[in-house]
Amino acid sequence: MKFRAIMGALCAAGLMAGVATAQAAESLEVLHWWTSGGESKAVGVLKDDMQKQGYVWKDFAVAGGAGAAAMTALKTQVISGNAPTAAQIKGPLIQEWAEQGVLVPIDASAGDWKANLPPQIDKIMRADGHYVAAPFSVHRVNWLWINKAALDKVGGKAPTTWPEFFALADKLKAAGYQPVAAGGQPWQDLTLWEDVVLSQGADFYKKALVDLDQKTLTSQQMVGVFDTVRKIESYMDNARTGRDWNLATAMVINGKAGMQFMGDWAKGEFENAKKVPGTDYVCAPVPGTSKAYTFNVDSFVFFQQKGQKTATPGQLALAKTIMSPAFQEQFSLYKGSIPVRLGVDMSKFDACGKQSYADEQAAIKAGGYMPSLAHGMAQPDATAGAITDVVTKFMNSNQDSKSAVEALAKAAKTR
Ligand code: BGC
Repeated sequence: MKFRAIMGALCAAGLMAGVATAQAAESLEVLHWWTSGGESKAVGVLKDDMQKQGYVWKDFAVAGGAGAAAMTALKTQVISGNAPTAAQIKGPLIQEWAEQGVLVPIDASAGDWKANLPPQIDKIMRADGHYVAAPFSVHRVNWLWINKAALDKVGGKAPTTWPEFFALADKLKAAGYQPVAAGGQPWQDLTLWEDVVLSQGADFYKKALVDLDQKTLTSQQMVGVFDTVRKIESYMDNARTGRDWNLATAMVINGKAGMQFMGDWAKGEFENAKKVPGTDYVCAPVPGTSKAYTFNVDSFVFFQQKGQKTATPGQLALAKTIMSPAFQEQFSLYKGSIPVRLGVDMSKFDACGKQSYADEQAAIKAGGYMPSLAHGMAQPDATAGAITDVVTKFMNSNQDSKSAVEALAKAAKTR
């Protein structure tokens, strides 16, 4: 009797434990494109956090900078009825997905978000007034990364104007370095091109790439932008076609190349290689853009699971964790970004992180805080895609600047 009673009690406890575990062990299938050294470390923080909370992390990583391949994979998954739990989606694309009626609101986890996000970014996270996306961090796109030993060797300093930039590039070339490391992929071409647009002033950038003002797009100044891009291109190597951005960063890290134009996810690679800003490398705003800031905010959206129109406990926990101050700090330290949540302590960040934060605050005040076109923040997908095609075609042919500008003006009308 006694034995049976004990066994019964143990079984009941076992069953109960089984039930509790089964309930807590919700699987989170998470689609993202964070596969480089620094990126993997950063997303690993979220994985560990969710596993500690009792969830099962099913990584759905689709390699490819800026996420073009990931977006194609996502569409296939959703169309075939296998939407992931969460996916890395940003900017106007959030609204485009919300309009498809496949996302769930996560308001229950977003109680304090409005007071803790810059208004420009808070707006992007909502559809129909409801929060449908959780923001990770702010990347600044308009950075130039320079190998410090190379810079010292040619007695140079970080260039603040295009003439200074070209003078430095010539010196680096003469000293045997590849002056500019780059990867010939459409999004990398567009990243450089938008940097040069920004160097004409935040107003010019806004009129051209946010308002799509035809007069600005067809201006002589825009012809000059293409001329500058053509000149920068002459300092890149011919083997760059298809090269991933992090391999180009590695060329700067290991001293093969002198400089790279790239958003500060590149800092995640320097950090991962244990390189220190000011000692091993220099971060500087792209020439002519010190007062402006092109922002790129990563976020996750949450898909309806099994036809349910409300978020699962796991989705709510994921959203809450992403916006928690401790996660925001550690993720950005690995990722090269700065926390998107306002008021997070910046004391652990390096000089580039601190500069990004200070420049962001100054740009917000001065009207120089601009959404990055190349990183899906400024225009709907179709428009951004059409402009990308123009820039990539220009960079991969001998097209003259004037006809590129004509093609640009036409592409900007794509909806
Ligand atoms: C994303 C970054 C990512 C980079 C390279 C950008 O569009 O916002 O998070 O590190 O692409 O893949």
